[in-house]
Amino acid sequence: MRAKLFTDTLKKSRDLIWVGMAVILLHAGCRNTRDVVFEHAGPAGPPRVDSLLNHFAVKYAEFLGSFTDTVQFPRSFDQDRIVFTTSSGWTSGFFPGILWNLYRYNGDALFLNAARSWTHSLLTESDNVSTHDVGFIINSSVGLGYIATDDKIFRESLLRAAESLASRYHDQPGCIKSLDDFNGYAYPVLIDNLVNLEILFRAWKISGNEAYYQIAYAHALKTMENHLRKDFSVYQLVDYDTESGAVVFRGTFQGYDTASNWSRGQAWGIYGFSMAFRETRDRIFLDQAERMAEFLLKNPYFMDGYVPFWDMTAPKVPHELRDASSAAILASAFMELSTFPEVEDQAKYFKTGENILKALSKPQYCSGVNENEFFVVKHCVGNYPGNSEVDVPLIYADYYFLEALLKYRGILNHQENE
Ligand code: GLY
Repeated sequence: MRAKLFTDTLKKSRDLIWVGMAVILLHAGCRNTRDVVFEHAGPAGPPRVDSLLNHFAVKYAEFLGSFTDTVQFPRSFDQDRIVFTTSSGWTSGFFPGILWNLYRYNGDALFLNAARSWTHSLLTESDNVSTHDVGFIINSSVGLGYIATDDKIFRESLLRAAESLASRYHDQPGCIKSLDDFNGYAYPVLIDNLVNLEILFRAWKISGNEAYYQIAYAHALKTMENHLRKDFSVYQLVDYDTESGAVVFRGTFQGYDTASNWSRGQAWGIYGFSMAFRETRDRIFLDQAERMAEFLLKNPYFMDGYVPFWDMTAPKVPHELRDASSAAILASAFMELSTFPEVEDQAKYFKTGENILKALSKPQYCSGVNENEFFVVKHCVGNYPGNSEVDVPLIYADYYFLEALLKYRGILNHQENE
């Protein structure tokens, strides 16, 4: 009896402690995010990111409380209203992807159920053979859903999407055609197509079908050959002659001009080659990612603030807008690079990734609870020359910021447990 009373009391006080901790965490999540990412566990303790992750969860939970249309996918916020895309828009997978990552972070059924619903609305896009973006759409949503749940429907959808992407590959020129009917180009290939290869590597591992690996490998190689300048900066678009496979045009339409350095292009390249190295362990892709990273690290304006200008060589730098979406993609890429034992100076990349996260966690870029709708990251630039999505939140900035924070947290936990 006494033993039972003692256990009950112990259980009650444990419950009270948990409730107390939950209140503290919620409080940390709800207040303004001034540097919460780098709260310290103790005087000499490691930095913690949980308060910022909880802030993310609070903002997205609030949105889910008021919005239930699962065939609309939030993309941005402009002129006092949320801008949505339908399932075929290239950004549609990022919202469910964020929900999957929040579920994986805190196990909350709210995020699981919402992630499932929005992901189910995307499943038909697996058969979309008209764009390389089938990779972004399905990999960031269904791909994460499959990791979280092992659901057969997601497995099947992921394989179908890989098949759709693979159908866009042609031996001449030896890579995937990114877009159809785009500004009169014959065979336009975009730098972000590199990131879409991840779904092919996943499909290869799930199905054992080597063709997916071969196509992804060939595309990454072709990108390396033709998208990069001698200084390891990048062109956004390369157009090929479909008969000879020769390059007929290089350009950067979302950057300032053909010769300029569009920051998100550089970010996609570093991210994509790091991923290609992770999947193939072929050193040439790591070398490429590192050289592209070094190009960025030589840029004094990037090093002064860790959020690049939308184009590093736009004429009014340092009076141009900065693009936080590039910074978020870069944070995730640098975190990944820092984990490869083959990298000589892993600490340098870890520190760079950490500095980007620190920059994005400041109130300048990280919104408080009643700000920026539910989007966390502020001040992104989608397409400056097209005067579209300039200085707004963008869903993919949140997606990659969250991904980078989770990678960072994983690295810190690993270091602590060593
Ligand atoms: N469509 C890819 C980008 O805007 O970065």
